[in-house]
Amino acid sequence: MEKITLRVFRGDNVSGGLVDYPVETFPGMVVLDAIHQIQAEQDSTLACRWNCKAAKCGSCSAEVDGKPALMCKTRVDQYPTGTIAVGPMRAFPHIKDLITDVSWNYRMSAKIPPLTPRPENEGKPFKLQQADVDRVQEFRKCIECFLCQDVCHVLREHDRKDAFFGPRQMVRIAALEMHPMDSLNRREQLKGEAGVGMCNITKCCTEVCPEHIHITDNAIIPLKERVADDYYDPIRGLLTKIGIIKRDTKAPLSSVPNDLTKIIVHEPRPVK
Ligand code: SF4
Ligand code: SF4
Ligand code: FES
Repeated sequence: MEKITLRVFRGDNVSGGLVDYPVETFPGMVVLDAIHQIQAEQDSTLACRWNCKAAKCGSCSAEVDGKPALMCKTRVDQYPTGTIAVGPMRAFPHIKDLITDVSWNYRMSAKIPPLTPRPENEGKPFKLQQADVDRVQEFRKCIECFLCQDVCHVLREHDRKDAFFGPRQMVRIAALEMHPMDSLNRREQLKGEAGVGMCNITKCCTEVCPEHIHITDNAIIPLKERVADDYYDPIRGLLTKIGIIKRDTKAPLSSVPNDLTKIIVHEPRPVK
């Protein structure tokens, strides 16, 4: 049995530092196993978030050797030096050890109106072309791990959470915009508060996505094109004006009732 050193960030949002833990490995061990071993045998106060240990819940997001990754999907034998640094995601406020406050992502998500079927299709079963299903299916694989948000320099280095919803939310908007039964035009939101123009297509988000979603090529670039078509293409504007291109019949965002976009805050249960 080999030993490795897990160099884990310990501390809160005021102070902290890296602490070395020797860990005995076993075949197939992932970083989350090593964290669990530390909790069981060395320090039960080490805080980390996890749920499924199957790369499906998106809870165990962290930075492994400086790269955003799911701890339950990262094998320790990928690191031949035998020392692995594990820290919290840096784009979000730190709470304790490996835990960050990712609630900003949910607040931005709540600003995006959900699927709103055209009134004539309300209550009827959707009939979709397979190509349309395949296109949206890729976006529906998102597990909301927020690793793409963590790596995006607009949110991480420049902290422009005031101007950009981030790649995860671009994936969500793309899934809605490209849904053939949806009746809303979210391009005003994309250009404005969602800030699709802030993305400069570095593709870092695509590189870290554990679901291999082509975030930039399949979601962000098509959304940028839609915004450019609507707001910046003079020829298209002229052709629409003289009736050669049909106007978009999707309803503007302002037609959405507010209660569809609210985030529901549950009061914490009293501790008995
Ligand atoms: S491609 Fe855009 S969204 Fe993705 S990391 Fe780069 S700037 Fe951020
Ligand atoms: S798009 Fe990929 S990286 Fe981003 S939250 Fe979804 S699964 Fe995670
Ligand atoms: S524990 Fe669920 S994704 Fe890692």
